[in-house]
Amino acid sequence: MSRILKHVGIIMDGNGRWAQVRGLPRYEGHRRGVEKVKEIISAALRLKINVITFYAFSIENWQRPKKEVDIIMELLQNHLKREINNFISQGIRFKMIGNRSLIPDNILFVIEEAEKATANCKQLLAQFAISYSGRDEIIRAVKKALQQHIEPEKFNEDTMNSFLDTAEIPEPDLIIRTSGEQRLSNFLIWQSAYSEFYFTQTLWPDFTDDEFTEAILDFQKRQRRFGKVSEFART
Ligand code: FPP
Repeated sequence: MSRILKHVGIIMDGNGRWAQVRGLPRYEGHRRGVEKVKEIISAALRLKINVITFYAFSIENWQRPKKEVDIIMELLQNHLKREINNFISQGIRFKMIGNRSLIPDNILFVIEEAEKATANCKQLLAQFAISYSGRDEIIRAVKKALQQHIEPEKFNEDTMNSFLDTAEIPEPDLIIRTSGEQRLSNFLIWQSAYSEFYFTQTLWPDFTDDEFTEAILDFQKRQRRFGKVSEFART
């Protein structure tokens, strides 16, 4: 565990399939999925990871049947209300990334209260991508830059970073996706330019602390070159 890992992103996929194979309604998969979020946050604290980002709800997910959307929003709300004291006592800062204008007021209120209450927590930043899509984040960032009349010659990667929802946050070193799909699905598409990926067949409700730790160990064995040559390969 010697190599420092600052930021892990997680695409939690497979809740619906987990429920389906058990003959349960899809929301049972989401309910169990929330328990897994808790388990992985504890693991991230133990492994001294600085930032963990969960892809909880994409902009595309608003198009799911209203009943499923309502249940996910309720789970999210209840989770935040229930966990807030744990977050504070364990030093977990909660932050949302995503498009706030699409979120119903009552849900946004709970999200922003949790952000305020944990603003000074320093052990772990737990980011939740809610009503999020990477392209939407980039478009919102460009709009903010245009509104500030930034001169084109002065616009560079740092400027872009400063307008993203993830401003000031290190890029993800590792992105984990469960359930066997091997794509980003609009998650942190700007920030993942040099991320490593870990894909597993495990459905999110079956993902464990052990497998998370295995993914981190697997990452630590890899050699990241960021487009340069390895030190050993230099002549
Ligand atoms: C992907 O599985 C999961 C989601 C779209 C929702 C994830 C949401 C939660 C775990 C609850 C949110 C709350 C918190 C606290 C993060 P899927 O439904 O796409 O599964 P499938 O591909 O098998 O249908």
